[in-house]
Parts: sequence; C-alpha cells; structure tokens
Amino acid sequence: MRIDIVSLFPEFVAQCAAFGVVGRAGERGLLSLHGWNPRDYAQGNYRRVDDRPFGGGPGMVMLIEPLRDCLRAARAADPAPARVIYLSPQGARLTQDKVRELAQSERLILLCGRYEGVDERLLQAEVDEELSIGDYVLSGGELAAAVVVDAVARLREGVLNDAESAVQDSFEDGLLDCPHYTRPVEHPLGAVPEVLLSGNHALIARWRRQQSLGRTWLRRPDLLNEAALSKQDRRLLDE
Ligand code: ADE
Repeated sequence: MRIDIVSLFPEFVAQCAAFGVVGRAGERGLLSLHGWNPRDYAQGNYRRVDDRPFGGGPGMVMLIEPLRDCLRAARAADPAPARVIYLSPQGARLTQDKVRELAQSERLILLCGRYEGVDERLLQAEVDEELSIGDYVLSGGELAAAVVVDAVARLREGVLNDAESAVQDSFEDGLLDCPHYTRPVEHPLGAVPEVLLSGNHALIARWRRQQSLGRTWLRRPDLLNEAALSKQDRRLLDE
C-alpha cells in the first residue's frame, strides 16, 4: 500500500510511522510513505502557502495553487488511482469500520491543513472525503494523518503477526477489549483472576466476552446499540 502525505511538515508524519508495527510494515515493503510539501510548489521569494480569509477574522487560509500543484504531483507519482482524504475537525468521524474500508485501498493521499483551514474550492475540486479523528481541535492535520496511517497499516495483510492479530482488537466486534494480565500471578497490586489460570478455554472465552460486554456497558453504552449482540451476550450482560 502506498500513502502520500501532503503537509507543511511531511517529515513529522513519516517520523510517527517509523516505529513499531508500522515501521516494520515499511521495512517489509508492505507500506510505502511519501511526503509532499506544498511550500515546494509555492511561488515567489516568500513561497507563500497561505493568505488572509475573505470576510475577515483571525488566522490564515491555505492557498489553492500550491496545494493543487502539490496534490497533482503526488497523484502523478504513481499510476494507481488514489483516494484523497482531507483531515479536519469538520470531517466524518473516523471509526474502525472506516479504517477497514480505507485498508482495502492500494493508495491514499492524506491532505493535512494548517492555520484556519484550506480554501473551500480546493477541497471541492480535489478531495474525495473529509475525516476527523474526534471532536477536538488539533493545530493541524498531521497527528490525525499519523493516526490514519497507523490504524490502516496494521490491518494490511502480513503487517501483524499471529500473536498481534487484529481479530481480537477492541472494536473489531464493536465492543471494548477485555482486561489483560501477565506474570506474576500474585502481586501486591492484586491477583490474576482465577479463571485465566484454569486452562478451560471455553470458560476463559466466556469470561473475556463478559468483561468486554460489561466494560462497554459501563464506559461506552453508545457502542452496545450498534454491536450485534447474540442471545448469549444478553444473558452474560444480565448476570
Ligand atoms: N485537524 C485539526 N483537528 C483535527 C481533528 N480533530 N481530526 C482531523 N484533523 C484535524
């Protein structure tokens, strides 16, 4: 998979993706990241990429031309068609379902805004989709782009090994993950729940499911309405 990052700080996103699972995906050739800086496509001695907003108000708006030329260069760097995503708080909320959908693409271009935003005409003409990573405002789209790269890359075939399998992740079944424990069994902070030491896989699976359901009910009841719960799940929730 190829992901191009259009940003005034493309190295920042690349750095975020240089470690751990995503870094390894890059080393294995399963993910290639390419940074593009609109300033390299700006004109004049000052290489301006922004200007004051029409209608007044604070902040600056990113200019059409440098961004358009930069996006075009990014598109042209590879013949595969790319889905262009603009990261902004005005976008649709990124969910695990959306991440799964994006992970099917062979090519994404992530456009990161700075300042107050990007000229709307550029967005209308060049962007396929606008996504937000949550209801808060970051000072630019770079951290959001790094989130997209990480969440998408780990779902690509061959990126995770069996032990890290994404199937058991939180949200893969629409619920929060269960608690996890490792050695030692006894510790001043508490003991590991007995069922996990029982060796009874059916009982362990049942306990984990119940923990997931309980946590979701307590912490994110909104998710329970969306999750496909079985009759047995409902029984576990009532216990
Ligand atoms: N840029 C600024 N804030 C953002 C957010 N919450 N999500 C995506 N991009 C952003």
